[in-house]
Amino acid sequence: MSAQNLAKRRTAPEILARKGGEPIVSLTAYSAALAPLVDPVVDFILVGDSLGMVEHGMESTLGVSLDLMIAHGRAVVNSTAEALIVVDMPFGSYEASPEDAFRAAARVMAETGCGAVKLEGGAHMAPTIAFLADRGIPVMAHVGLTPQAVNALGGFRSQGHDAAAREKILGDAMAVAGAGAFAVVIEGVVEPLAEEITRTVAIPTIGIGASAACDGQILVLNDMLGLTARVPKFVKRYGAIGEAVSEAVKAYAGEVRGRTFPAAEHTYKPRG
Ligand code: KIV
Repeated sequence: MSAQNLAKRRTAPEILARKGGEPIVSLTAYSAALAPLVDPVVDFILVGDSLGMVEHGMESTLGVSLDLMIAHGRAVVNSTAEALIVVDMPFGSYEASPEDAFRAAARVMAETGCGAVKLEGGAHMAPTIAFLADRGIPVMAHVGLTPQAVNALGGFRSQGHDAAAREKILGDAMAVAGAGAFAVVIEGVVEPLAEEITRTVAIPTIGIGASAACDGQILVLNDMLGLTARVPKFVKRYGAIGEAVSEAVKAYAGEVRGRTFPAAEHTYKPRG
């Protein structure tokens, strides 16, 4: 990546400065095939560990490794020029101690060229967020339904169904904001909790299945494009790319089986 390329990209401080302003648009992306199509339109791209499920067929995000995140993060950074790229810290790479988190996050930043990392967790992760932020690593936090805690939460379920749970999630968001996170993803919480969090914290809230009142929104790219068979209830499909791919594959197979492939205009002609 050239210095010029770096200078053009959106930055974590620019996202922070958007609190309460123009809505922040974001999507996940994982590959050099799709990230460049997303790049000119969004403010930031998250290389989410959801890639374990939507790109690698895993049951949850728990099996995603640091090396896998770095490989996808590098592909997305190399193929984009404008959006801030945020790379997810995978399960097991940051929870044990702030020092472990720093070593893993430093690898992600150095080996991908991304501009920030994201990690899951609220109040209990606040010391780690402060440790990373103090050492020059911009951190996006993630509260509410945190998929890496799927086993502790008893499944991929919406959160905040009673007053104590809502209080806890609000406290989590306040703790990560106080620790120096530049933004916080709020996933899968009941209305109007995300609206209250958005009013309360001084950093942008990025909603996913949370509330239209958040400072910005994010969706998993494969879900909104129609590339995944089953999607969460809150996901609106903006494309039917899965169907388009199936049609193209069937058209190709039909030509091969009918011996009409390749059409004459797609063959090389002798030069002489
Ligand atoms: O991994 C991911 O894609 C995420 C988003 C759902 C926010 O964390």
